[in-house]
Amino acid sequence: MAENKKSLQSVSSVSPEAYRHFSETIWPVLKKGPFKTVLFFLLLFVAAHIASLWTNTSLTDVAVLSSFLPFKSLKQSAEILEFPFNCSNIDLTKGCSSGTYHHNHTSSPSDEECPHYFRWIHENLRPWKDRGGITRDMVERAKPMANFRLLIVNGTMYVERYSRAFQTRDVFTWWGILQLMRRYPGRLPDLDLMFHCGDKPVIRSDDYKGLFALAPPPLFRYCANDSTLDIVFPDWSFWGWPEVNIKPWGRLSKQLMEANKMMIWSKREPYAHWKGNPETSENRRHLMKCKSSHNQDWNARIYVQDWEKEAREGFKNSDLTKQCIHRYKIYVEGRGWSVSEKYILACNSMALVVKPGYYDFFSRSLMPLKHYWPIKEQKLCRSIKFAVDFGNSHHPLAKEIGNLGSKFVQEELKMENVYDYMFHLLNEYSKLLMYKPTVPQKAVEFCSEVMMGCFGSGLAKQFMKETMVMTPSNTEPCTMPPPFNSTTLHAFLEKKENQTKEVETWEKQNRQL
Ligand SMILES: *[C@@H]1O[C@H](CO)[C@@H](O)[C@H](O)[C@H]1NC(C)=O
Ligand SMILES: *[C@@H]1O[C@H](CO)[C@@H](O)[C@H](O)[C@H]1NC(C)=O
Ligand SMILES: *[C@@H]1O[C@H](CO)[C@@H](O)[C@H](O)[C@H]1NC(C)=O
Ligand SMILES: *[C@@H]1O[C@H](CO)[C@@H](O)[C@H](O)[C@H]1NC(C)=O
Ligand SMILES: *[C@@H]1O[C@H](CO)[C@@H](O)[C@H](O)[C@H]1NC(C)=O
Ligand SMILES: *[C@@H]1O[C@H](CO)[C@@H](O)[C@H](O)[C@H]1NC(C)=O
Repeated sequence: MAENKKSLQSVSSVSPEAYRHFSETIWPVLKKGPFKTVLFFLLLFVAAHIASLWTNTSLTDVAVLSSFLPFKSLKQSAEILEFPFNCSNIDLTKGCSSGTYHHNHTSSPSDEECPHYFRWIHENLRPWKDRGGITRDMVERAKPMANFRLLIVNGTMYVERYSRAFQTRDVFTWWGILQLMRRYPGRLPDLDLMFHCGDKPVIRSDDYKGLFALAPPPLFRYCANDSTLDIVFPDWSFWGWPEVNIKPWGRLSKQLMEANKMMIWSKREPYAHWKGNPETSENRRHLMKCKSSHNQDWNARIYVQDWEKEAREGFKNSDLTKQCIHRYKIYVEGRGWSVSEKYILACNSMALVVKPGYYDFFSRSLMPLKHYWPIKEQKLCRSIKFAVDFGNSHHPLAKEIGNLGSKFVQEELKMENVYDYMFHLLNEYSKLLMYKPTVPQKAVEFCSEVMMGCFGSGLAKQFMKETMVMTPSNTEPCTMPPPFNSTTLHAFLEKKENQTKEVETWEKQNRQL
């Protein structure tokens, strides 16, 4: 029994909330219960539930990176997770006064057109544009599904928190928006939005079809898919992910680029690599079958992330910048999209992307055979083996795809563009608001200084210091590309499909040989 409780306690370093829930509500009942067997199964159920809470997150997806945190950050994560967001000992008004930007900063216009993926902003907001705008009622109907409501009124950000998000996802999302406001002082319009930090989209388009259907509630989150209408926004990891020691993207992307120069493509191992938690999706479980055995080599090097082993060995493989040693890297979604996609693409290795079911804010603009090699879900192992064989006998093409994938994340996805994406999305969104946002009573004013103050110590604070925008941008945001029209959208989607089909045709021909 004590044994069981102890092991749960150690799980609590991963999810103290779950543990607290357990210890406060379930444990006392269990202790009184007379039947040891029932107790045992209950415990088993709770443990499984906690484990599922754990795998529920895309945290596990980062395991793909095969790197991972040094052990101390696992412990540290407990500290950060316990982060009470107790700012009551800070005078909020006073804390913010120094940080309020009332700039008369002038910046030169930008003649740069934004990257292609900005076009999806128009598509994402189309359901409300078609209905003439967004009413307060539509926004408030998203409340039951939101972790928080965020407002910008008169250049100041306010947050009303409805429920906790996993780890510090919400905190770093607020942080990112605050930095956007420092980058473009006085340029963010008044707005009012609902945000959910979970993995999977929930606003099903089917529920809002038909002449008399309600308008869908606008809900922001990190990903969506073809049957949902959630509005996609850059995820927290661009400002860092302290719980797993993933550095802010600005620094990490540069380090990855440097590391790539040290490990030229032809010297990399001629196999496809994946490491992660196979339990988060069907495709990942299938991928396990592609492990090589003595009588079958699928050209794939597949590893399951073993936390305990990693810990025992002192997290030797914890440096992301040392992970790009294979010519091919497999990307397969876990639950929802996976944060790991940009790190995999950044390797300068040809990314083998198992057909994704979700998209984040940039991934819809990735083109098969240009930025990555598409892999079919069916006949997964066969497709992977074919991709590796093909690449190894067509070096220039494989290298080119690896290069262009990396170039995409290094250039189109650089922080300046991530900020500009947020800028344009929020501006386009606010143009649709048909009412003047007012600050709800329970909302709290936020500014960078206060947020830093609310963090006692640790990696989170360090990441905030690192990513704090110190000077406003001296150029205007890039210029929004026009919306797709039916011809250009159709042509783009058709090209994607054609490129994918082309790979399938090559594969079929190969099989017939
Ligand atoms: C927050 O901090 C105040 C003052 O330091 C303290 O009185 C209060 O109990 C704290 N609240 C929580 C939930 O920890
Ligand atoms: C801009 O701000 C500076 C100091 O902050 C002030 O001296 C100057 O007059 C301002 N310019 C305008 C056009 O408001
Ligand atoms: C915003 O600014 C306007 C004009 O300065 C002012 O009338 C209004 O009260 C301000 N609103 C809030 C919520 O501070
Ligand atoms: C989109 O995501 C939702 C929620 O995860 C899921 O139920 C649905 O099947 C997905 N749709 C498609 C087309 O993948
Ligand atoms: C769509 O846009 C393209 C390029 O911007 C243009 O050439 C074409 O005429 C447009 N088609 C329609 C149907 O508007
Ligand atoms: C896609 O392939 C079809 C048939 O091969 C071709 O007619 C069409 O022009 C292609 N479309 C694009 C956008 O490449």
